[in-house]
Amino acid sequence: MDRRKAMKVAAGAVIAGGAGLLTLTQAFKPKLPLPVKPSGLNYEPSEGSWEYSQLDPVVTGQIAYDKYAEGSCMYATIVSVVSQLAENMGEPYSSFPVHMFKYGHGGIGGFGSVCGTLNGAAALVGLFIPEKEVQDKIIHDLFQWYEKESMPVFHPAKPVENYTPVKSISNSVLCHASNTNWCKESGFSVNSKERKERCRRLTGDVAGKVVHSLNAIFASAYVTDSHANQDVNSCVACHGDEGKIKNVSVKMSCNSCHSESIGHRVFADVHYKLMDH
Ligand code: HEC
Ligand code: HEC
Repeated sequence: MDRRKAMKVAAGAVIAGGAGLLTLTQAFKPKLPLPVKPSGLNYEPSEGSWEYSQLDPVVTGQIAYDKYAEGSCMYATIVSVVSQLAENMGEPYSSFPVHMFKYGHGGIGGFGSVCGTLNGAAALVGLFIPEKEVQDKIIHDLFQWYEKESMPVFHPAKPVENYTPVKSISNSVLCHASNTNWCKESGFSVNSKERKERCRRLTGDVAGKVVHSLNAIFASAYVTDSHANQDVNSCVACHGDEGKIKNVSVKMSCNSCHSESIGHRVFADVHYKLMDH
């Protein structure tokens, strides 16, 4: 259909209005990507990489939980892995500058941006896997898991607080959104000891998860895209680099910040179809 004809159809659709309009705009649906399915990810460690040895996710989660009080979420995540490797292998892990990772608390210096335990987990992926594309895959999988998982699940051997936190789905990798969502769900304030217990256990969950991922990639058993967000993929099909609009470089769950307007729902397809590449 040429551009002018398409415009006429669109204009006619507006006049016809209502449900008819929605049906007609289906004719303009661009081809959206097929749902992304989980698949194996092969990886050959390169020469001279920092050595990793298989760790127990439950033990790691417990160390992360216990170390939380020393330097908060990001620090505890790093220490949970590095301290075990220092015990197994000594240097360079025994003199690793773990203190630097205290900066990640509260979404980086209390700024409420990226969740510190995720920041720590991503740093560990970066430490052991120098290849950027492989890093990105593992980080995306981990972040998409975090957005959709109902947490905390981790059960400490000896709880610091005698309180089992309510679980919540963060739908966001941001400390602010993740915490405030949880506060709404639980009724506790953000400065409460209950909220701290929630983050302490969440740190146990994420530390266990990243060790699970590292174990798998080094055992050639890693499955990627296991938590692919198909909604995000459909938004990015038009807005991302592969689409025509190319104004968005995000993998975060779009609907944590944007709700699709009625205008967008009705006109985006038609508008998109008529846009130049
Ligand atoms: C069929 C292609 C297509 C898809 C799929 C799509 N959009 Fe859009 N979107 C558009 C077009 C076209 C515009 C108008 C862009 C312009 O004029 O520059 C737009 C505009 C927007 C805008 C700004 C204006 C507004 O209406 O709010 C936001 C925000 C947006 N889209 C978010 C999203 C999100 C989130 C998703 C996934 C739920 C999504 N889009 C999926 C085509 C699409
Ligand atoms: C953490 C919050 C957040 C997330 C998550 C997010 N965005 Fe945005 N987005 C913004 C902000 C802030 C802007 C700046 C413009 C504004 O205020 O609307 C923006 C702007 C946009 C615009 C341009 C709007 C315009 O008026 O032209 C588009 C399109 C868009 N985002 C799409 C997406 C898509 C698609 C996703 C998911 C892949 C996404 N965004 C995820 C916060 C977010």
